[in-house]
Amino acid sequence: MKLCLKNAASFVPVGTMERLAAETAAANELLENGQGAGNDFLGWVHLPSQTTEAFLDEVQAVANQLRAKAEIIVVAGIGGSYLGPRAVNEALDHTFGLNGNNPRVVYAGNNIGEDYLADLMELLTDKTFAIINISKSGTTTETALAFRLLKTMLEKQVGKAAAKDLIVCITDKAKGAARKTAEIEGYKTFVIPDNVGGRFSVLTPVGLLPIACAGHDIKALIRGAQDMEKTTGMDVAYTENPACQYAAMRNALYQFGKKIEIMANFNPKVHYFAEWWKQLYGESEGKDHKGIFPASVDLTTDLHSMGQWIQDGERSIFETVISIEKSNKTVIFPKDEQNLDGLNFLAGKRVDEVNKMAELGTQLAHVDGGVPNIKISFEKVDEYNIGQFIYFFERGCGISGYMLKVNPFNQPGVEAYKKNMFALLDKPGYEEESKAIKARLQK
Ligand code: PA5
Repeated sequence: MKLCLKNAASFVPVGTMERLAAETAAANELLENGQGAGNDFLGWVHLPSQTTEAFLDEVQAVANQLRAKAEIIVVAGIGGSYLGPRAVNEALDHTFGLNGNNPRVVYAGNNIGEDYLADLMELLTDKTFAIINISKSGTTTETALAFRLLKTMLEKQVGKAAAKDLIVCITDKAKGAARKTAEIEGYKTFVIPDNVGGRFSVLTPVGLLPIACAGHDIKALIRGAQDMEKTTGMDVAYTENPACQYAAMRNALYQFGKKIEIMANFNPKVHYFAEWWKQLYGESEGKDHKGIFPASVDLTTDLHSMGQWIQDGERSIFETVISIEKSNKTVIFPKDEQNLDGLNFLAGKRVDEVNKMAELGTQLAHVDGGVPNIKISFEKVDEYNIGQFIYFFERGCGISGYMLKVNPFNQPGVEAYKKNMFALLDKPGYEEESKAIKARLQK
């Protein structure tokens, strides 16, 4: 992994990064000494180095059991209980679903779309399927709703006894409805540690089980994260520490008016990583009326839509480009006798060579247009590099949140919609809120 800040540094006054050195290193230290806000949620900091081979073998064994039995594995979860596993699987799976003998992994509980759920149930009809129910609280409406539908369907299709062996629950060690259901029904369970929040949980069974189910190498994933844990630790000097450098630069840009960070990629495989990153940074930093707004684009696709805004719109943005150095496969552009499209100058070149020039050309154009550019390069899309990616951005997020002087590990803002929804649906216990919200709507 390489971090290049040269096209961002020119947008902040000389000396800014040096000025932030002590503050950034102190923020990184808070993650290790546990003296900062939200310090009961720091279990992710040393999670990679504390993950044992034996534990990974246990996760793999359960994945193997599900893989042996199911054609389709439905992962039910939302937010931090969804985006991590989906990001990793989408990056590593075949783009068009040609995944050999691996079961197909699909997702539910991440929305309340009736058509989505109906389509999913149609897909699952007459198929052998398994369910991984992921919810730390065990009370999340979207996930609980999907799980009840799926469990009912599975029990109807294979009977209650067989369904028991096709359901795994990943939840809190003691509390919540998901834990209670698992205990009553006798499902296999994995624990989401108390001290790891949802958006930092991809390297717990939340991510590991669905990733192993899809046929990907969870040991290589953890190795990548372990190496990045070392590379970003508090003993690594500020100027050598990529997580510190990234956190410092994005805070510097924010201080000088760049309020929106756009994660851009030139490889469709990493699309869902931007979704994961948006939750990580948005939910961690967007509070107390502060915080960079994390946005994302897929390039070159979005150069034909959002490209105009990025090049020419309000200069309140900076870009963080995820650059993948090598493609995993090779496609050579063919020569055409007629050359009606005028593209014979590209004949014999790899498609990735064209893509790389698009990436470089875009970077230069955006910098010329006044958009600071942070470039983060990974060698290729594989488990090891993805493990590095995950831990790098987690660490950068913790440091950056402390620099912003917020608690990066809570999310009080996500409760507001739930209160209104429950009041509108007349949930028992919400009688007062129901009356108030209905009166408000009648005004
Ligand atoms: O990061 C978070 O804490 C949230 O995004 C949660 O992961 C999300 O709301 C799902 O919660 P739960 O796992 O309790 O169902």
